[in-house]
Amino acid sequence: MTSTSTALSTTLVHPATGDGPWWRDAVVYQVYPRSFADSDGDGMGDLPGITAHLPHLAALGVDAVWISPFYPSPQHDAGYDVADYCDIEPTFGTLDDADTLLAEAKRLGLRVLVDLVPNHTSWDHAWFRAALAAGPGSPERARYIFREGKGPDGGEPPNNWLSTFGGTAWTRVTEPDGTPGQWYLHLFDDSQPDLDWTNPEVHAEFAAILRFWLDRGVDGFRIDVAHGMVKADGLPDTVTVHENLDPTHHLGPMWDQEGVHEIYREWRRILNGYDGERAMVAEAWVADPRRMARYVRPDEVHQSFNFGFLTALWDANAQRTAITDSLLAMDDVGATTTWVLSNHDVVRHASRLGLAVPGTFGPGIGADDPQPDQALGLRRARAASLMMLALPGSAYVYQGEELGLPEHTTLDDDERQDPVWERTGHTQKGRDGCRVPLPWSADAPAYGFSPTGASWLTQPEVFGELAADRQVGVPGSTFELYREALALRRELGLGGGSLAWADDLCDDTTLAFVNGDVLVVTNLGSAPMAVPGGFEVLASSVDASAAEVPAEATVWFRPAARA
Ligand code: GLC
Repeated sequence: MTSTSTALSTTLVHPATGDGPWWRDAVVYQVYPRSFADSDGDGMGDLPGITAHLPHLAALGVDAVWISPFYPSPQHDAGYDVADYCDIEPTFGTLDDADTLLAEAKRLGLRVLVDLVPNHTSWDHAWFRAALAAGPGSPERARYIFREGKGPDGGEPPNNWLSTFGGTAWTRVTEPDGTPGQWYLHLFDDSQPDLDWTNPEVHAEFAAILRFWLDRGVDGFRIDVAHGMVKADGLPDTVTVHENLDPTHHLGPMWDQEGVHEIYREWRRILNGYDGERAMVAEAWVADPRRMARYVRPDEVHQSFNFGFLTALWDANAQRTAITDSLLAMDDVGATTTWVLSNHDVVRHASRLGLAVPGTFGPGIGADDPQPDQALGLRRARAASLMMLALPGSAYVYQGEELGLPEHTTLDDDERQDPVWERTGHTQKGRDGCRVPLPWSADAPAYGFSPTGASWLTQPEVFGELAADRQVGVPGSTFELYREALALRRELGLGGGSLAWADDLCDDTTLAFVNGDVLVVTNLGSAPMAVPGGFEVLASSVDASAAEVPAEATVWFRPAARA
């Protein structure tokens, strides 16, 4: 077979890395426990529900699952407000259920990452309750960021920081003697007080939490708000205009401070002490890929989510820049690049890509907002996903994207639970629309999410035709597209492969690259584009021939076999 790269004029961006530790080229599936599968019928997903459906993920062909928080929590931020890091929320199950899940995953050859939330605890955590009871100046308060207020009676917040969810980042407490007292910092909801990572007790506690889960057999951790744990000395006012949940505004004295790297070095040493290639992935909303690369230096975390790729508009030049810049930045530090299009915090890409400006990233969509074009969004989502799955590195898939699920864009406002909705005075819809329970079977109550038909958020009608049982084994379905792409990716070693832009094919509406012997062409334009002879179709997001790539589609080609 002729090497594809010799047949086309190409510019190499990233050389092949070949085989390495599992995480370097892993496809990781994100499970959002509230919405994956409900085994007991209370309308809320749970661990036995996840365990029961792990074979679906094994059949899909992913390498690992990352499970969003399942710890005891008052659920003011859907579990990202943790009251006890070493137990399970009763609604989700028990530690025995977690052990069963880990054992079943292992049996199926799936790795498991759990979510670690170290920037803040819940206000129901024993530490925060003790801090409130103990009063100012106590060692209990020193685990959090309590400060005196400004103004004559201390009635003004200590600085001008805003919560990512809206409103001020400070809440004033009532002291044990009943007087108005100090303020505590919360970069998110007031139910999520920030920990003080200058306190050695906090370090010791999290080292113990890591060990607790590593000893139980998890393969690693996804680290929540990984760029926020250390704040600038003296908590100076921020000069950055801080838009809620807009990742490009994660700048200022509370984000991406030098001190966070020391925490990751400490944790890397802990993970290195375990066998089995345990790994960490950082949720660091850092816009500049070179800043992001600092989190994945050889003695820090293993991976960082590529939010530059997620937020790139559906535009060939923007996509090309995002891909090139992230590969170069990660290669500089010897790290693997990750790829992600959707998660539980952003509008699902099947809807994002159907908006008037495709790929725009907004804080949720409601019934009174302009509605995405669902068919076009899905067509583009399939093209984007097929392109992503050919990129070298590691990819993250958010539950339901393998079914082509859209955002629920007409959810009733009364159902919204995301704190963003309340904290912004109902001006931002928030993230509930991407968190709607999964449809497993078209004809069952709640589309098979729960045995009783209960569902903590109402599912949109379109979930019926997109249910898993309408797609598994059905040629051309989105599920089968993902399955086929994952199988080929594995067989052809694309995750450990190379990336070279196919210069002659790239233009303002076309993205074309070569990974090993595979030529990947994404046509972002509205007319078909011709492909030179000598290739045959390996996989495609819509029906395609070897002669051209249809509009809004991705095709994987390989050199045609010689007669
Ligand atoms: C991360 C999580 C998000 C959560 C926030 C606060 O961004 O992904 O869901 O609300 O951290 O923990």
